[in-house]
Parts: sequence; C-alpha cells; structure tokens
Amino acid sequence: MALCGKSSIVKREMESLGFPLGLHPKERTFSPMNEINHVEIFKQLIEQAPDAVLFADSQGVVRLWNQGAERIFGYPAEEALGQSLDLIIPERLRERHWEGYRKVMASGETHYGTDLLSVPALRNDGSQISSEFSIVMVRDDEGKVLGVAAIMRDVTAGRQREKKLKERLAALEAK
Ligand code: HEM
Repeated sequence: MALCGKSSIVKREMESLGFPLGLHPKERTFSPMNEINHVEIFKQLIEQAPDAVLFADSQGVVRLWNQGAERIFGYPAEEALGQSLDLIIPERLRERHWEGYRKVMASGETHYGTDLLSVPALRNDGSQISSEFSIVMVRDDEGKVLGVAAIMRDVTAGRQREKKLKERLAALEAK
C-alpha cells in the first residue's frame, strides 16, 4: 500500500471529528486517494463496525464508544463516555486489569501485540458475555502513549456451542 504524504490532513480531520488519534508516522499507510474519502472510511468503519471499538485514555477513561459497543454492552455512547473501563470489567478481574494497564501505560509496550485477550465482560443488564479482543496502543506524534483502543467481539454463542460439544464428546467417550 502506498504512503500518502498528506496524511496529517487526515489526522487533523479525524481529530476535528472527535477521534483522538495519534498515528505514528510509520503507521500511516494510506493509499493516495481523496483525503475526505479516508476520513469517511475511518469514521464509518469505527462507528458502524458490529464489533465494539472503544478507546480509553491513559487514565482508563472511555473516550470513544462505537455502535457495536452500544449493542454489545447495552450502554449508549452518552452514558459510557467519560466513565472508567470498570463499566464493563467484572469486579473480580479489575485488579489484574488495572495492574496490566498501568504497566503498559508506563512502559509503552504490551504483551498482546497481535494476540487476542480472552475475558468475560460485563453488560449493562448485569449479565456476562465471553469476549475476545485485540488492543492497539495509540500514541501522539512524539510517540507518547495517549491510551489504548480495543476491538472486542462477543463470542458467547460460539463458546457455548464448544462447551456443549465437549460435554457430548466426553459423554460418548465415557460409554
Ligand atoms: C471488558 C473486560 C475486561 C477484562 C475482564 C479485562 C481483564 C484484564 C486482565 C485479566 C488483564 C491481565 C492480562 C495478563 O496479565 O496477561 C488485562 C490487561 C490489560 N487490559 Fe484489560 N480487561 C478488560 C477490558 C479491557 C479494555 C476494554 C481495554 C482497553 C481499552 C483493556 C486494556 C488492557 C491492557 C492495556 C492490559 C495490559 C496488557 C499487557 O500486559 O500488555 N482491557 N485486562
């Protein structure tokens, strides 16, 4: 994919739309297309993705919450924005999460470069889902970490199917 020299315009446009992006120069891999189209693509991709796309700042406060996040977690953006990530983290896992989060903010490095995190997550109605997500460290132009973005998927149905199949297999093997 070719590099587009005017990617800072895209960044400014994104920021003016309320996307707190701090793209590192090496990560600017836009094809040389009309800048406005890129903004539209990013905007619609993030806003309308069926997966939850969210961003939390260095303090772990939610600053971006897309339609997928509204659907999966049951909170409209107005309610989620400005709140701590604790909103969707089951109480028993909060300590471990924040320990890892603080370390990553201090070091600027994550153990989960391309690996998925697999965790239970909390919904507005109090129920829990099985989720899988990847994280992206978001930095400013100087490389300072601004926060972490997460792309989360509800994998509850697949997990339940898997569990049932394992139970059936175990029952068949026991015969
Ligand atoms: C929704 C439920 C969530 C749960 C239950 C959860 C739980 C956890 C746990 C148990 C860890 C420690 C993992 C380890 O030590 O290997 C962790 C680390 C972390 N979590 Fe969360 N988390 C959740 C959501 C999020 C979200 C939405 C973000 C980002 C926006 C996030 C960012 C991080 C980061 C940056 C780390 C440190 C990763 C590393 O060590 O490289 N978490 N979390």
